[in-house]
Amino acid sequence: MNSLIDSPVQRTEHIQSASPTKINVHRIRQLHRFAGMTLAVFIGLHLTNHLFALVSIEQHIKVMDALRLVYRNPLGEALLLLAIMVQVPSGIMLVRRKGWRGLQLAERAQVASGGYLAFFLVAHVFAVMMGRYFFHVDTNFYFASAVLFSPVWLFYVVYYGLSVVSVFTHVASIHYQKMLPRTSARRAQTQALAIVGIGVATMTLILLVFSGAVYEIRIPTAYKWW
Ligand code: HEM
Repeated sequence: MNSLIDSPVQRTEHIQSASPTKINVHRIRQLHRFAGMTLAVFIGLHLTNHLFALVSIEQHIKVMDALRLVYRNPLGEALLLLAIMVQVPSGIMLVRRKGWRGLQLAERAQVASGGYLAFFLVAHVFAVMMGRYFFHVDTNFYFASAVLFSPVWLFYVVYYGLSVVSVFTHVASIHYQKMLPRTSARRAQTQALAIVGIGVATMTLILLVFSGAVYEIRIPTAYKWW
């Protein structure tokens, strides 16, 4: 059953029939965009927070404490979790509709990075909530860094690394598609590659500092689960 409606004609039909079981793809796209913009603000601040670890662990924790006033207050956290609950299923619905075959490279990059982000967001937020409410630890710098000192550190290098690169790849592929009608393909491509490049640099810096390559890190016992 194809319940998603896309073309203007189909949309009009949808409005006329006004079936409550039919989902309007235009609405889903709007929701996905709105939730995405909400998440983008958080992710921008979140990754900037991680870059502050390049200064020191204390500075990272200080910035996180300040940001928590926003995303950990009941309103901020509810908005963030709601955005994730909207973003992930709406993204999956849009991808199922779009398929994979016949897509341009930029669209494939958008779908692949979005797919990874959907998985990562759910797994990552689940881990943070488990840390907070089950293991009763402060999910600060050490919480993120500890896994890079565990026996499965290589898994976390890939898991964290892909998350950061996927964020930038997702933005780059959307930017490329938006710029194509307005500028030359070459310029759009250069801009998209520059965005991915910034992502790779950000990922490298975060992984280096959290894994103890920039300065020595002593993981407190409370964070050692191995
Ligand atoms: C290397 C990369 C990353 C590391 C080390 C990391 C680490 C962390 C840590 C330590 C927290 C807990 C924050 C707190 O207690 O205040 C957290 C929360 C969170 N992170 Fe990440 N993160 C990374 C990348 C990402 C990315 C790419 C996303 C989004 C796609 C993301 C989304 C979130 C969300 C939604 C929360 C939950 C905030 C809350 O409600 O407390 N993170 N992350």
